[in-house]
Amino acid sequence: MRCSYRKKIIYGVITILIFIIFSHPGLYGRSSYEFIEKHNILKYLHEEVNVNLTSNAFTNCDYHDIINDETTLSPNLIEGDLVEGHGIRDGGEYIPQDCRPRFSTAIIVPYRDRAEQLRGFLVYMHTFFRRQRIHYRIFIIEQVDSRPFNRAKLLNIGAVAAINAGFPCIVLHDVDLLPLRPSNLYACTKQPRHMSSSINKFRFVLPYLTLFGGVISIRTSQYKMVNGMSNEYFGWGAEDDDLYSRLRACNFKICRFGPEISQYHMFSHKLQRKGKLRSDLLSFARKRMAADGLSSLHYLEVATVLHPLFTHIMVDL
Ligand code: UDP
Ligand code: BGC
Ligand code: MN
Repeated sequence: MRCSYRKKIIYGVITILIFIIFSHPGLYGRSSYEFIEKHNILKYLHEEVNVNLTSNAFTNCDYHDIINDETTLSPNLIEGDLVEGHGIRDGGEYIPQDCRPRFSTAIIVPYRDRAEQLRGFLVYMHTFFRRQRIHYRIFIIEQVDSRPFNRAKLLNIGAVAAINAGFPCIVLHDVDLLPLRPSNLYACTKQPRHMSSSINKFRFVLPYLTLFGGVISIRTSQYKMVNGMSNEYFGWGAEDDDLYSRLRACNFKICRFGPEISQYHMFSHKLQRKGKLRSDLLSFARKRMAADGLSSLHYLEVATVLHPLFTHIMVDL
């Protein structure tokens, strides 16, 4: 009697384990994908700085050693402090002083109700960027209303703020993702780039080849060409697939760096409720492209505050 009870428990545990293993996206993903080889990265970068940038440095910054940096950072950096005299300006902007930067990047983060993750993200990212010698600024776009979260619309709002501030390149960045390799340069490539292709959550495997979410970089001119992202995706899912579809419609081909360089750590968090309309919206992505995006972006700007480590834009969608 006791023996058969024990057997049942063992079978139960084995079944659950098999289910967990087979339902994991990493199992079906790509451990290899097409990417720009390390020695070609500098050639593929799009060199351009913010129109408002002034620098008194005599020499241009060099990025060879950064691309070849073999260091892997620890996510524990989130618990540390920034170095004294870090030189970050109000609004979360940094300009290297000892050389003239060749890239200006706006980091745009969609945000609501994840205060702990945000604090860790800001400390980590400003520490990470110290090695990169780029000009950058961090924009946090917070949804203050209580409708389902709309990641893509927040990113559009951030993109407009970055464009108005003169940035030629934007990185659209989830708050729960930390880049582990300083060699993952936060600069735009000639083609839009999927940057987070190797995440711990997916066992460092790319779940599917057309994935274009998490962290991506794109030139603002290209973002405008596809009319930005759709404003209609409330709730989780498919807004990033919609952007991919827009890019393909305009004949852009996305690129990636290798899986070693593209490693990210994702914090665990509870799942958002899935967007009800996401599949219907995605199936008509190309048709809506011209009328749904930057051209139809309406919202109420509640406040914009320049904090020591970031520009905080609060919006009611
Ligand atoms: N997000 C947020 N608050 C929320 C939901 C989402 O700040 O309540 C932002 C945050 O930047 C997060 C991103 O939207 O990293 C993507 O959402 P989520 O992490 O839930 O999706 P995942 O990519 O993990 O499936
Ligand atoms: C969703 C995307 C998401 C991806 C990875 C897809 O099913 O449509 O929005 O980024 O899964 O989680
Ligand atoms: Mn997440």
